[in-house]
Amino acid sequence: MTTLNETILVNRPPDEAFAYVSDFTTTTEWDSTAREAKQLTPGRPGQGTEFLVNCAVPGGSLDLHYTITRYEPPEHLVLRGVGRFFEVEDTISFRRQGDLTKIDYRADFNFPRYLAPLLGAFQPGLERMGRASVAGLQRALEDNFSHPEDSEECNGRIAALARLAGFTRFGYRRARKSWHPMSASMSGKHALITGTSSGIGLATARDLARRGAALTLVMRNAERAQRVHEELVAETGNHNIQVQMADLSLMADVDALSARLLADGRPVDILVNNAGALFNELAHTDEGLERSVALLLLSPYRLTLSLKPLLEAAAEGARVVNVVSGGMYTQKLSMDNLVASSADNFSGSVAYARAKRALMVVTRRWASDWQRDGIVVNAMHPGWADTPGVESSLPLFHSLTRFVLRSPEEGADTIVWLAVATEAAASSGKLYLDRKPQPLHLQPSTRESTADREKLFHYLADFAPADTRKTLAEAG
Ligand SMILES: NC(=O)c1ccc[n+]([C@@H]2O[C@H](COP(=O)([O-])OP(=O)(O)OC[C@H]3O[C@@H](n4cnc5c(N)ncnc54)[C@H](OP(=O)(O)O)[C@@H]3O)[C@@H](O)[C@H]2O)c1
Repeated sequence: MTTLNETILVNRPPDEAFAYVSDFTTTTEWDSTAREAKQLTPGRPGQGTEFLVNCAVPGGSLDLHYTITRYEPPEHLVLRGVGRFFEVEDTISFRRQGDLTKIDYRADFNFPRYLAPLLGAFQPGLERMGRASVAGLQRALEDNFSHPEDSEECNGRIAALARLAGFTRFGYRRARKSWHPMSASMSGKHALITGTSSGIGLATARDLARRGAALTLVMRNAERAQRVHEELVAETGNHNIQVQMADLSLMADVDALSARLLADGRPVDILVNNAGALFNELAHTDEGLERSVALLLLSPYRLTLSLKPLLEAAAEGARVVNVVSGGMYTQKLSMDNLVASSADNFSGSVAYARAKRALMVVTRRWASDWQRDGIVVNAMHPGWADTPGVESSLPLFHSLTRFVLRSPEEGADTIVWLAVATEAAASSGKLYLDRKPQPLHLQPSTRESTADREKLFHYLADFAPADTRKTLAEAG
């Protein structure tokens, strides 16, 4: 048997450190040999939970099948890992020491007898790896990362086109190499996410549920909503998930939803305005609003303003994440064409991109206006992700690009980062892709003027919730 033993002190309560480590999929964030990790059994980590961790080893990779064999939060955690060439037992203890937590990490390796003659040669490398992993865990739990630098502005068409390559799954894979661990605790946080029946919204909900956040999921199809609710509870073991029904293209539904949430009074720590669709035909809602503008702009505008009291009530500063689209790079904000009025020459992609561009402008205004309220407001675009929405509204694009599209989880990653990462709260009013601030324009011709922005807010004021309309009018 070969034993490695390391001790670290971290500036986190034992229960948070225990929760982070016992979700052993986090090994990819702190153990540099762990390349992929997934939980094999459903529910919250506990006695008997199984994980599969793929580790890099000299000359290749190796799967280790881990099982939690002792689960006594917040003090004792034991995992047994079985691989092709060895077995390992990780015994981890968490003890409060003053304001800190002392973590003892012991790994007992058992190698088959035929490898015994080689063990002397392995030992130094194994010890180095063990020390590096535990130091990585300390860094992850210290959670003291700086906010990523802004991406460079784009100069010229070629650079703009090259940026599009970053929208694919290859862009995601390249970007993730420089990411930091996300160990912030979501326990006690309440996230409201719209459009969680599929795609990016569902992937966001699953991730935040796994992290222990309380969720309110807004959907419009009752049957689907029930199925999503049951699946998420079974998969993540998180029972703190509730569903609210609303057709978000209808202002009456937005108002009814807001009224229910306000009556409930539960503070909202994270609001993700994700629901969206690209409509290829010009059509109007029953309320007479062009449906792209209604769903993609007026709805998140009205919902967020209505819920501001609940955002203000969040204990540690709420975060709003507006899901926009890289498509907005093709459009300039202009009130002359934001609302399409004629079916002649109507392009669903253009209407969609204009509404997303306008939501980006709103994001920046809120970020600046709400700084004093401690509310951080950012936008993100997911790149190109393979979701039911893309498949149904852009079938040709989908069939041409499906081999390079991201998974919904990869598309959702930056939403989760904006909602969870400690360093993400250090900046407001930005547009992100792959956890990095992006330029708002890829070409100078899409830059709007102050007058364009003022016209937008003048138009939007009519769609503000009734009780904020007067304040907005006074603000000019
Ligand atoms: N996938 C991409 O490559 C990509 C790229 C850029 C931006 N985005 C943005 O990402 C967000 C999520 O899209 P997705 O790709 O994940 O598409 P998706 O799978 O179609 O998901 C869209 C979600 O929005 C909901 N929704 C649509 N209309 C609604 C309405 N009137 N009321 C309430 N909910 C409504 C859908 O619910 P139903 O199931 O009831 O329709 C669904 O839950 C959207 O804002 C989209 O614009 C996606």
